[in-house]
Amino acid sequence: MILMDGKAAAAGIRQELATLVRMEVARGMRAPGLAVVLVGDDPASQIYVRNKQKACAEAGIHSEAHILPRGTGQKELLHLLDTLNARTDIDGILVQLPLPVGLDAAVCTGAIAPDKDVDGFHPVNMGKLALGLPCLKPCTPAGVLRLLSIYGFNPAGKKAVVVGRSNIVGMPLALLLAQKQFNATVTICHSGTADLKRECLAADYLFLAMGRPRAIGADMIHEGCIVVDIGINRTPGGLCGDADFEAMSRKAAAMTPVPGGAGPMTIAMLLENTVFSWRQRLGLVS
Ligand code: GUN
Repeated sequence: MILMDGKAAAAGIRQELATLVRMEVARGMRAPGLAVVLVGDDPASQIYVRNKQKACAEAGIHSEAHILPRGTGQKELLHLLDTLNARTDIDGILVQLPLPVGLDAAVCTGAIAPDKDVDGFHPVNMGKLALGLPCLKPCTPAGVLRLLSIYGFNPAGKKAVVVGRSNIVGMPLALLLAQKQFNATVTICHSGTADLKRECLAADYLFLAMGRPRAIGADMIHEGCIVVDIGINRTPGGLCGDADFEAMSRKAAAMTPVPGGAGPMTIAMLLENTVFSWRQRLGLVS
């Protein structure tokens, strides 16, 4: 079984981005800027935001966290987003999800300028993704597909099964896989799927993104399946994915670990999107 090491792959990408940023800054360009907005005190979100900021600092990207208290109103949040949209030193804006009750994630992500939407969640970017047009792509789907490519796996002509249809992972991942560039035959499974085991057994590539600890057992894949585990579940025994890793690792051809698989790749893609947006704003790419 090949273990797809997202941590190592992400480190390589981050290093390349750091070199690119350093070169442009040495030529007199301003550094890229990312604004991260966090509302409330969700411990997992606090860790994600800290990790994103640390990765930015290492890549020479200016990052600033806007931490708002739980109870912040939608109007106040939209006002902050307007201000960030207008700033010429900010290339990327993200609102860390989930938002506390009372705030509407769709309204908030829709208020970010599409060309600064480094999460790729804005309806304009999602629409472009569905149409196969160039756009900022959601980081987790882009990250896992990059990881597969780094390991030489090509889903073209293969059966790809995506378990989970969330707006931030499952659905955009399925859209990407179906594009000509990846050319997979895609099935999306969700809570209404009649026979999940049968669908998973048909998969050459199985993408797990439903957020249920060790819900998919080794009996649900065929020998030689490539399993990308995007679940991050906090259990009393620590972090685990949606796959029963131990049992599945004896049957799969390749797997991503949790942690150390999809997570680090997500952050690498966030930096890549921020650097891309910065280069576009500076006129360094057309
Ligand atoms: N919450 C879980 N994953 C993500 C992500 O990729 N971006 C944001 N903004 N929030 C998240």
